[in-house]
Amino acid sequence: MFFDALKKKFFRPSSFLGCDIGTTSIKIVELTRSGEQAALKNYGLLESFGHFERANNVIQANDLKLSEQETAQMLSTLIKQSKFSTTHAVASVPTFSSFITVLEIPSMSDEETAKAMSYQIRQHIPLPLSEIAVDWIRVGQREDENGFVKQYVLLVAIPNELIERYRRIFKQAGLTLHALEVEPLAYTRSVIGSDATPTLVVDIGARCTNITAVDQGFVKLNVQIDYAGDTLTNAVARGLGVGLRRAEELKKQKGLVGGRGEYELSTLEIPFIDVILHEVEKARAECERLHGAKIERCLLIGGGANLMGIESYVEKKIALPTMAGNGLLFAPAPQHLAMVERELQTRFALAVGLAIKGFM
Ligand SMILES: Nc1ncnc2c1ncn2[C@@H]1O[C@H](COP(=O)(O)OP(=O)(O)OP(=O)(O)O)[C@@H](O)[C@H]1O
Ligand SMILES: [Mg+2]
Repeated sequence: MFFDALKKKFFRPSSFLGCDIGTTSIKIVELTRSGEQAALKNYGLLESFGHFERANNVIQANDLKLSEQETAQMLSTLIKQSKFSTTHAVASVPTFSSFITVLEIPSMSDEETAKAMSYQIRQHIPLPLSEIAVDWIRVGQREDENGFVKQYVLLVAIPNELIERYRRIFKQAGLTLHALEVEPLAYTRSVIGSDATPTLVVDIGARCTNITAVDQGFVKLNVQIDYAGDTLTNAVARGLGVGLRRAEELKKQKGLVGGRGEYELSTLEIPFIDVILHEVEKARAECERLHGAKIERCLLIGGGANLMGIESYVEKKIALPTMAGNGLLFAPAPQHLAMVERELQTRFALAVGLAIKGFM
């Protein structure tokens, strides 16, 4: 959702910050554009380990646990440290505090669809229209078994109160917030673009995993679950009787592969990865049933996509070609960042998609 300043296209900044405020870390990228080509210029990451000490101490949760003040301070710190050259920003709101759903309605003209949607919005969103910002877009059409043509409409809504809160946080941090977007739309833009291949994108964060089915470049389905990277860390901590910080370290060092004598680490992690994959399989089946698109590949993004050995495990388990997503497809990184390229491609995929939106 763009705010007025940018919609009117009065001016076009040549650089944008994409700001992903996750539950346990803030990730920002700066993209510049010359002509039609975008490039990554700089990035910044601020991790909060507070959630390992106190479960409630996350950057944001359903009710945005940390205060505006604290979030703005973390954002300011990161901005200062990273020395970005622009203050123009686009940010995301988490799936758990927004609405994203795909509706199936009979095919009809644009005007009739608009009317039908105002009814549908009231049916599907539990807040009065005056309290939300809504956007919708047609994402597909299909003839059902009885010969009726159905259209699919992606409906997105963000509570106004949340928009205002983000505006205040960004203002306090000295940034101009031009647009807010729900997460799945942003990472789909950076890892898929307009590629038509039916794909599942799985964003494994710290607290949540988002599973997004994309076909013909459009989001067709999105599911969010509460099993993610931290679930694995907790399992390792409990299983080995070590603290969360140590468990996090071991998880990152050994992943699912480990070595001799460390096989128990993957034994501890796999039951929880399987819970995530069960939801992935459900989303795949649902997308194929509703949209008739046979899913051809699975792309893993988010910090959890860096768990060693996860790609081959997922590929075998769900029998689908699986690889790490590349958020830098349309915004390559400079040579001196080659060492962190994989992390930029996966963990920063959402931030990159947000910055690209600034140029649209
Ligand atoms: N090399 C690695 N191996 C395994 N796990 C990793 C690695 N690097 C990061 N992670 C995990 O990724 C998670 C953090 O990912 P990310 O930054 O995408 O989360 P977030 O955006 O803060 O959370 P959420 O998306 O749930 O709001 C943590 O659980 C962390 O342990
Ligand atoms: Mg995240």
